Amino acid sequence: MQQMWTEIDAYIDSHLIPEDPILLQTLKHTEDKGFPDHLAVAPNQGMLLQMLIQMNNCKRVLELGTFAAYSTMWLARALPKDGYVLTIEGRDTHAALAQENIDHAKLPPTIELKVGRAADILKALPNDFEPFDFIFIDADKQSYPEYLELSLNLSHSGTIIVLDNVIRAGDIINAENHKPSIEGIRDMFSALQNHPRILSSTALQTVGSKGHDGFALAIVK
Ligand code: DHB
Ligand code: MG
Repeated sequence: MQQMWTEIDAYIDSHLIPEDPILLQTLKHTEDKGFPDHLAVAPNQGMLLQMLIQMNNCKRVLELGTFAAYSTMWLARALPKDGYVLTIEGRDTHAALAQENIDHAKLPPTIELKVGRAADILKALPNDFEPFDFIFIDADKQSYPEYLELSLNLSHSGTIIVLDNVIRAGDIINAENHKPSIEGIRDMFSALQNHPRILSSTALQTVGSKGHDGFALAIVK
């Protein structure tokens, strides 16, 4: 099935995702530096992130898990010129690559990359830090429950939270799988269920060039 999913993503992309020099350059530089691209969002998913931001007139975006900053480009391109993206990456090698890609892109919104454990960086933000309108959680899956709570502290009513990779080819329902990443995703689902600060949430499975996975979507009450 994987080959067909990949071909269908190529069909979708060729019709609906305009070729963009900045995005292509980001992917090429990432590949040239020898990094695999499976951690990056698919182009049609990047477009969905962009559209969610546009639909809601978001100006301030938080991203956890920058990797090569490919998703960061999609987020930033959706923003007005005075928009702001804070993106946090835990691995030095990824952060160095991301900073190069961000510098090459020269996008108008301010893109601030911080390197370190996302939870520590978020906890260290000042108490009066202006909340974010859109939050994309895409870092280590083990910490998703903690990232969700920390994100809620930096949210306002109406903030949109997207959590990537919450299906993992069905591993979440394999009772024998107790990997910390899978347990983290399960705990995230439990946390979203009846959370007093969540207005509504759902999750969608996806298939495509990145295999069988999915994302969760939540609106802050
Ligand atoms: C992995 C992480 C991601 O964020 C992703 O989009 C795909 C795969 C991973 O850790 O394998
Ligand atoms: Mg991801």
